[in-house]
This record gives sequence, structure tokens and C-alpha cells, in this order.
Amino acid sequence: MSNGDSPDSTAPLLAARDLTKAHGRTEALRGASVELRTGEILAVTGASGSGKSTLLHCLAGIVRPDAGSVTYAGQRLDQLPEKRLSELRRTDFGVVFQFGQLIPELTALDNVALPLMLAGSSRKDAQTRAGEWLERFGVRGQEALRPGELSGGQAQRTALARALVTGPKVVFADEPTGALDSLASEQVMTALVHTARDAGTAVLLITHDAQVAAYADREVRLTDGAVAPAGVTA
Ligand SMILES: Nc1ncnc2c1ncn2[C@@H]1O[C@H](COP(=O)(O)OP(=O)(O)OP(=O)(O)O)[C@@H](O)[C@H]1O
Ligand SMILES: [Mg+2]
Repeated sequence: MSNGDSPDSTAPLLAARDLTKAHGRTEALRGASVELRTGEILAVTGASGSGKSTLLHCLAGIVRPDAGSVTYAGQRLDQLPEKRLSELRRTDFGVVFQFGQLIPELTALDNVALPLMLAGSSRKDAQTRAGEWLERFGVRGQEALRPGELSGGQAQRTALARALVTGPKVVFADEPTGALDSLASEQVMTALVHTARDAGTAVLLITHDAQVAAYADREVRLTDGAVAPAGVTA
């Protein structure tokens, strides 16, 4: 708590209230509200174009909403100066984007090692830990390949390893199993859920796959840029 408020264990870790966000003339979010508690795994579902990725980007402090608030651990993310916001993103958040997330010039191993090096680890230590994380997500023998040489599924698993390697408090994952068959999806979800449960990491998981959403504690559904509860899934 940086604002001097007493910590409230019942308060959500991350809360968005009445978010609106337009991309040009498209109103991607129209009053979306959502809460994520410490250690909670929340699935966000909804039709294509319903605003899921836009919501994730606002919650993760990557995009500022036009109106509404995003509160993380007692601080208004939407009002935080850019420098503090990017620092907070680096220390507390891990993000798996829906598209094009790995750095094409770096090997799979170095993509995963990079956040650790940015946080001050030596290259050798970072690579050792990155290798363990790639193994955990079933990317073995591909450490030296560049993203263009990985399959879609291997790239997604590498991106997940990269999002988790620094031990973030919240992981945002936008369709992390979108390029995987059902067996590989199951392996990735099992690894993600075990890791999150072990470390008490909260996960905001966007998926259109009901089997993937079933790993979550709770599911909310976006329709036309607003959230309606869809009941408890686990
Ligand atoms: N950068 C952008 N420029 C213009 N329009 C955008 C942009 N990003 C999103 N949109 C529009 O905003 C709406 C919501 O997009 P968003 O990507 O949030 O949907 P989504 O629910 O993630 O969809 P999908 O399931 O297909 O990934 C869509 O109508 C989309 O076309
Ligand atoms: Mg999307």
C-alpha cells in the first residue's frame, strides 16, 4: 500500500469500474466492471469483438481507459504517471498477449530470461531459471530457436513462461491456449494453474474455450463491452 490506507484483506487486488474505451469510432468497452482477488483465477469469456483484449489491456495498465477507474492494491492505475506504471507492470504483472509477443531476434531461452535480466539478474542466472520455466511448460529442446522457428503452441508456451518467470502478483493471459490442440491446452492450463496456486498468483484468463474456462474459480462474460456474471465454474 503506497497511499497509506490500511490493507484490507477483503478488498479486491485489482478492480475495474465502469470502464469505457473507444478505438476510433468503435466503443470497445461500455461501462465494464470486474474484480480480481488475490490468488483468484478468473476467466473472461465473450464473443469475438466483445472487448476482452481491450479490457485486459486496461487492467494491465497498457492502455488507459477513456473513463472509469482501475485500482490495483489501493492505487489508481489509470492515474499513475507512465514511469511508475511501467515499473509496476515490470514488478507485479506478467502479460501474455494474444498476438506477436516474443522478441523475434532473441532465442526462446533469452525471451524468457529477458524479464529477469531487466530486474537485475545476471545473464547466466536468468538463463538457468528461464530453462527451468521452459521445461515446466513443455518447451524442451527448442531453447535455442527464435520465435519464427517455433510452432504457434511452442511460442505461446514460451510467452507464458516469460510472463511467470519473475513471480508476478497478477498474470494476464489473452487466449493462452488459442493455438493449441486439446491435449496441449490441458498441459498448459495444468502448468499455469499449478504455478499460480503455488505462488498465490492471480490470473485473468481470456478464453473462448469452455474447457479452459473450467480451470478458473469464476467466470465473467463480456457482451458488447460490458460484463455480466456467468456464475461460478469451479
Ligand atoms: N487498435 C484498434 N483499432 C481499432 N479498433 C479496434 C482496435 N482494437 C480493437 N478494436 C475494436 O474494438 C472492439 C473490441 O476489440 P477487442 O480486441 O477488445 O475484442 P476481443 O473480445 O478481444 O475479440 P477477439 O475474441 O476476436 O480477440 C472490436 O470491435 C475491435 O474491432
Ligand atoms: Mg482479443
